[in-house]
Amino acid sequence: MKRDENKRVYDQPGFFASCPKECESLLEKEIRDLGITRVFVEKGGVFFRCETDIACKVMLQSRIASRVFHEIQVYTIADEKELYSLAKEKWWDKIFDLKQTFMIKTLFDIDSKYKFKNSMIFSQLLKDAIVDNFRDKYGERPSVDTVNPDISFLLRIQKKEKGELFNAHILIDMCGEPLSNRGYRDVGFQAPLRENLAAAIVMSTDFDPNKDIFIDSMCGSGSILIEAVLIKGKIAPTYLRVRPYVEKKQITFDCLKHPWFINDKKAERLFIQYINEVYSQSIDALQNFETGQFLGFDISEQSLTITRSNLRAAKIPEQIVMLNKRDATKIHGIEDPPGIVICNPPYGERMGEEENLKTLYHEYGENLKQNFKGYRAYIFTSKPDLRKSISLQTKARIPLFNGNLECRLIKYELY
Ligand SMILES: C[S@@+](CC[C@H](N)C(=O)[O-])C[C@H]1O[C@@H](n2cnc3c(N)ncnc32)[C@H](O)[C@@H]1O
Repeated sequence: MKRDENKRVYDQPGFFASCPKECESLLEKEIRDLGITRVFVEKGGVFFRCETDIACKVMLQSRIASRVFHEIQVYTIADEKELYSLAKEKWWDKIFDLKQTFMIKTLFDIDSKYKFKNSMIFSQLLKDAIVDNFRDKYGERPSVDTVNPDISFLLRIQKKEKGELFNAHILIDMCGEPLSNRGYRDVGFQAPLRENLAAAIVMSTDFDPNKDIFIDSMCGSGSILIEAVLIKGKIAPTYLRVRPYVEKKQITFDCLKHPWFINDKKAERLFIQYINEVYSQSIDALQNFETGQFLGFDISEQSLTITRSNLRAAKIPEQIVMLNKRDATKIHGIEDPPGIVICNPPYGERMGEEENLKTLYHEYGENLKQNFKGYRAYIFTSKPDLRKSISLQTKARIPLFNGNLECRLIKYELY
């Protein structure tokens, strides 16, 4: 559903959760599952209205969101000069402190990009409005820090449906570090999936955590396996990020530094309560995990070493995921119970690799036919030609993006 501007009511604050392309409906479902009903799917994310503490739940619990923003203002403007004069009137000192640093990033939609071209000018003028407002009141201004600011603003410029005017949405990033950085990933692996994309892949399958075996036959650095374990254990994806806060009061969500948030005592108290709940639930879940359900294979010893290191960083005990060095074209599934066999094979970005990969995909498909009867198989890849090398009937084709690379998650049912 599109946000209806005319019917917007401001009795509840607004939030925007961003996500990878094509993941909007998965994110919408997560948000609705948290009991939020005023939900509007937009390109690249989902806008919703709810109490601030409930938005904090989205930030803690969403596996798909890249960031969660609080929308503080929407102005209707014809150009950037109007933005300056409107924004200069805002009570910026209720939002953040004079001594805090800030930065602004502007994102255009297609129409505003065509009309205005340079997004830097918008960032610059919003910055001027903010510092002029502070200077008028206090004779001093806050500083800009584009590397590690205390508060980050996102300015989204979007053309209104009718006429020549634009909406300027001003949002505050509540997270700081993106939510996709779960905190378990080793930097040494070359082609890892972003953690929220790995979660989206698992959530797009029909994996039943109560009964299915889950095999990643080319596990790379283990992102898909780790996200599947977290889904099975109902462990919030921020479980590692809440630890420094609970154990050392180290702030790992930016909103806990912002006056607009901490002056809302109810929201702050409930957020801290939810943080503590995520912390204890994750410890319980990981201590009481069943073994034998998750298996990972890879032909490369180096990949397996990285997966082991990521599992350790993720605090997932070794016995939960069984890892073996194997050629995925020669493995076979456990017959009872069957389940999911998934993989994200190499794409072959380098010249000359394509032919070898065609053989790999073909042999992989033949092995699935022979040795994975009763399983549902999924392959996540970007290359249509390689997909055609698999001589199995496609059951579903789910579009997903790996950054800007258009990919498909292909499903096969094996009888
Ligand atoms: C694109 S990476 C997987 C990335 C992984 N999804 C992640 O997020 O880290 C592909 C992996 O397939 C493995 N691989 C290539 N050929 C294989 C084969 N025949 N059997 C098993 N693994 C293979 C590579 O070693 C590599 O780790």
